[in-house]
Amino acid sequence: MTRLADIHCHILPYVDDGAEHLEEMEQLLNEQTRQGISVVCATPHLRHGMFESGNEEVKHQFERARDYIRTQKLPIYLCLSREYYCDSHFMSLLEQGELLPLGRGKTLLVEFSGRHTLDIICHRLQKVIAAGYQPLVAHVERYPAVRTGIDAVRRLRELGAMIQVNAGSLLGREGLRQQLFCWELAKHDLIHVVASDAHGPEYRPVELGLCAHKIENKLGDAYAQRVLWDNPFSILALG
Ligand SMILES: [Fe+2]
Repeated sequence: MTRLADIHCHILPYVDDGAEHLEEMEQLLNEQTRQGISVVCATPHLRHGMFESGNEEVKHQFERARDYIRTQKLPIYLCLSREYYCDSHFMSLLEQGELLPLGRGKTLLVEFSGRHTLDIICHRLQKVIAAGYQPLVAHVERYPAVRTGIDAVRRLRELGAMIQVNAGSLLGREGLRQQLFCWELAKHDLIHVVASDAHGPEYRPVELGLCAHKIENKLGDAYAQRVLWDNPFSILALG
């Protein structure tokens, strides 16, 4: 099986709607280990009015996760970023430059509302790019404006955005429509990254290992390695 990197997950406790407490964080890390994930980037939400934990608070929880990995000798390399909700508040942060990209690179994980139109999504992605970052669009299958067809995803890519889909969506956890759309994107080679977007042991669990098997079976080992290891690893720019 391919090596696995999970660059979108909510394993840190007390900072968003991911792990509720330390024990859940430990369960998620244990599960990532069990599934053979060796590189993890924790991406707590930052969304004005909803998930407002600052970078200092997030870094504190990140250190606790690192301590757990160290004491348990888990074979995981852990790094820290955020999942940024693309509203006007985020746009002002972009100008201030206090953002946490994925790993050591210049890629930002960005999410949108289900109500955003394709024009708004494109406009905001262009602003991210103009600010000197590479946007990675989180769970692209969730946005009705993008789910209209693969041409919408092509448009995002042509702007310079990268595309992430959730393992759970490929497995059908979010319904048939999202599942079919994800496989359509995969077949047209429009996905850069598949990640777990794990939130807890039960709600949106880690299912990257299972998803990797499905991708390997349907589209082959080389493709699986590209979206589950090569692309996410190069986005992190760990050197
Ligand atoms: Fe997420």
